Amino acid sequence: MDKVLVLDFGGQYNQLVARRVRECNVYCEIYSYRTDIETIKGMNLKGIILTGGPNSCYEEGAPTYSKELFELGIPVLGLCYGAQMMQHVLGGKVERAAVQEYGKTEISVDTGSELFSNVPAETVCWMSHFDYISKMGPGFKSVAHTKDCPVAAAEDVSRRLYGIQFHPEVLHTPEGTKMIYNFVRNICGCAGDWKMDSFVENTVIALREKIGSGKVLLGLSGGVDSSVAAGLLARAVGKQLTCVFVDHGLLRKNEGDEVEAVFGKGGKFDLNFVRVNAQDRFYAKLAGVNEPERKRKIIGEEFIRVFEEEAKKIGSVDFLAQGTIYPDVVESGLGGESAVIKSHHNVGGLPDFVDFKEIVEPLRNLFKDEVRKAGLELGIPKALVMRQPFPGPGLGIRIIGEVTAEKVTIVQDADYIYRQEVDKALEAYEAENGKPAPWKPDQYYAALTNMRSVGVMGDERTYDYAAALRAVKTIDFMTAEAANIPFDILQIVMNRIIKEVRGVNRVFYDLTSKPPGTIEME
Ligand code: XMP
Repeated sequence: MDKVLVLDFGGQYNQLVARRVRECNVYCEIYSYRTDIETIKGMNLKGIILTGGPNSCYEEGAPTYSKELFELGIPVLGLCYGAQMMQHVLGGKVERAAVQEYGKTEISVDTGSELFSNVPAETVCWMSHFDYISKMGPGFKSVAHTKDCPVAAAEDVSRRLYGIQFHPEVLHTPEGTKMIYNFVRNICGCAGDWKMDSFVENTVIALREKIGSGKVLLGLSGGVDSSVAAGLLARAVGKQLTCVFVDHGLLRKNEGDEVEAVFGKGGKFDLNFVRVNAQDRFYAKLAGVNEPERKRKIIGEEFIRVFEEEAKKIGSVDFLAQGTIYPDVVESGLGGESAVIKSHHNVGGLPDFVDFKEIVEPLRNLFKDEVRKAGLELGIPKALVMRQPFPGPGLGIRIIGEVTAEKVTIVQDADYIYRQEVDKALEAYEAENGKPAPWKPDQYYAALTNMRSVGVMGDERTYDYAAALRAVKTIDFMTAEAANIPFDILQIVMNRIIKEVRGVNRVFYDLTSKPPGTIEME
């Protein structure tokens, strides 16, 4: 299979670059710019993309790469910092720009360049830089410019070296994916054979080979990743797989039963499925606990204890399977260059006392959207595969303050109504307009605040909790904006929650961006 390397210079969009490449059906991996040349030579690459980064390439100690990288005969595309660094190393000059370009910028491109084939001569790009290429290295010519930037893209066709000053990977560059396609498919000549049906097929074969007649244990959380991992493993080794599904009582309404319907007896897959109904155990541990980090810790630890107890009953296994996906690998610092930003861990972690020989992580190379495609390919129901992200500690961090069984029911019911109405409105919009609603949130849920207030219901005075509705638009979940859900939909939700959910007499809509807020409330 053709492979492209995304060499990470610390840019915030590095994963996005890799995803765009994969969208062109080309397999790629992210590695730090510290990766040595011998390793790179051994990768059998079709192309190399250098990402952006926060530095100035002419400063001492700035991330760089030796000239050899550009002499391998492999096509190289530098993006933003990557483009500047390429010029810096190959005899050009990069300087601080008199006019800093930031945001959507009009650009003229040379449509004769292979990089811009099928791109209109006048288009828009997303700029984000302080420095600019004031002089190109020998052999390069400029193939794009903006009002303030004479070299918005440069190429040396004979050496197959390309640089783009802007960010083609972000949505604000509408023709950007086409440019990346032009590079990986046309310039690098990748066949475009990275497809999810062949991924599933090949992975099943590889898993069979690796596992042989061994026993596999998987902790199933009901989330997308572990569900798809379960589906893949079940297809590969069937009854050799045991899935332990711990219901911690902090799942969304009906979620436990939905998971059981797919993976349990009579479901689609032929595996050993163990459901542990540990709700009471978790509620007992959480009684009287208010502090968010403490709650997270209790839930995480208890989850591992329950899982271990079940694992002990099963006895020793050969493999412990995990639903690790590619962003987990990159973010944990193993792949790329970016710092570890998220400190939270999935519930599950690595149990200390499970007796196994090896770990299998069949989704380790996939992005989330690819995991979903693989899930659909495996025949896992759409409702499960397309599920929005849900935190490991579940409703435990969507109930502010102490968690009780009663509060769990309240938040489950409110959340169910909210999702039902939003989904209904989203579907109606799409049916009518043939495209998703512009306000379509990437994550939305109801939470239960710890605030009680006075209200009236009929003739009676009430003193009940306030529910909070959250909905965000985000690309990477690191930053987010509140989604602009139409007011009439919010009002329907509010009316239904107050009418149908006992214990709630007030509904708030959370407008907070991230930062300074977070997406979850605790
Ligand atoms: P925050 O609240 O950090 O959330 O802005 C960012 C994204 O991460 C999810 N999230 C978690 N996911 N375990 C998880 O698996 C966790 O402990 C956890 N905490 C937050 C959150 O739902 C959002 O998508």
